[in-house]
Amino acid sequence: MRRMLVTGGAGFIGSNFVHDTLRRFPDVEVTVLDLLTYAGSQRNLDGVPVTFVHGDICDASLVDGLVAATDVVVHFAAESHVDNSLNDPSPFIQTNIVGTFTLLEAVRKHEVRLHHISTDEVFGDLPLDSLEQFTEQTAYDPSSPYSASKASSDMLVRAWVRSYGVQATISNCANNYGSYQHVEKLIPRQITNILLGDKPKLYGAGANVREWTHVTDHNSAVHRIITAGQIGETYLIGSGDERSNQQIITQLLTLMGQDPTAYDHVPDRPGHDLRYSNNTTKLRTELGWTPRYDFEAGLAATITWYRENAAWWKPQKSSTEAKYKLLGR
Ligand code: NAD
Ligand code: DAU
Repeated sequence: MRRMLVTGGAGFIGSNFVHDTLRRFPDVEVTVLDLLTYAGSQRNLDGVPVTFVHGDICDASLVDGLVAATDVVVHFAAESHVDNSLNDPSPFIQTNIVGTFTLLEAVRKHEVRLHHISTDEVFGDLPLDSLEQFTEQTAYDPSSPYSASKASSDMLVRAWVRSYGVQATISNCANNYGSYQHVEKLIPRQITNILLGDKPKLYGAGANVREWTHVTDHNSAVHRIITAGQIGETYLIGSGDERSNQQIITQLLTLMGQDPTAYDHVPDRPGHDLRYSNNTTKLRTELGWTPRYDFEAGLAATITWYRENAAWWKPQKSSTEAKYKLLGR
């Protein structure tokens, strides 16, 4: 693992991954390929010694040249937001499916190792009042255009492994939080609303449950899989920290010194998945991974990061809220 190509390395998880990789493996030469959509920013990599390529993972000749010059591809690039996919699925089909296909053809040709980053949303959802969990054997049953496009990309990776012997692994992680997350997502949206004196917005009754994993824990799992994972295998990643959306908003308000009931109910997301929960036994027992972050401490640190980095998030905030206003949320 001397030369690494990170797609989507200017986005939330990808940029944190690049920072963590260079901290843990200072000898690795990292190249980032990123289209710098609304969700990506080169500022996320300020001061980080990487080769940055501004381009599209669907550009076959660009991808071919970059893959030929690397030892491992870590594929984060995607359209990642469910609400956007409900509004306009087309870029999700293009980037998440065609983009992954383009990368697969290049790693097949050049016999390069690929790690594909995916989501637990490919499995659909779980009942609210149960102890059921997703496992690596759970059947795919995606609900939104976003999760259907990610499910499609996982299926392509599996087929390229089986039919062409491509050297690939897949991970499906639960919801991430931490620094550099776009303000469209639940936690940064509410923190920045509170910082601006606006109320948090809770979809529907707020009973839906998510499993929250700190981005650094997600990335340490990806490092374990790249260095010790079995080719062709899928690994689920998650912290075990499940919270309802209402609990998250109440907790943020409390941590930020506000009235915990000072939030607005807004119309629900169509097709809204009820609950996600990943069984991570395989990753923990076979690869020895454990998450390090305590959720409450991680949330407090995330609030501090947004408090101290208003210059980073303010430029995204009004356009994001304008999009939500059109959706009535
Ligand atoms: P993000 O939206 O913050 O970042 C995506 C990045 O991909 C951006 O930098 C964007 O510019 C880039 N990109 C988009 N289209 C591109 C294209 N055609 N070519 C090149 N670059 C392109 O996303 P994120 O939240 O960091 O998610 C990263 C990956 O992790 C995604 O594959 C997502 O499905 C997966 N994932 C996310 C979460 C989460 O909670 N955020 C959880 C599990 C899995
Ligand atoms: O589970 C992994 C997935 O987690 C990733 O694959 C996705 O890329 C990532 O965006 C995330 O998807 P969610 O749809 O779960 O995340 P989001 O932050 O959009 O919403 C989290 C929950 O909070 C969801 O139940 C909807 C709700 N919500 C969201 C927003 C933005 C609100 O109640 N209010 C809000 O303002």
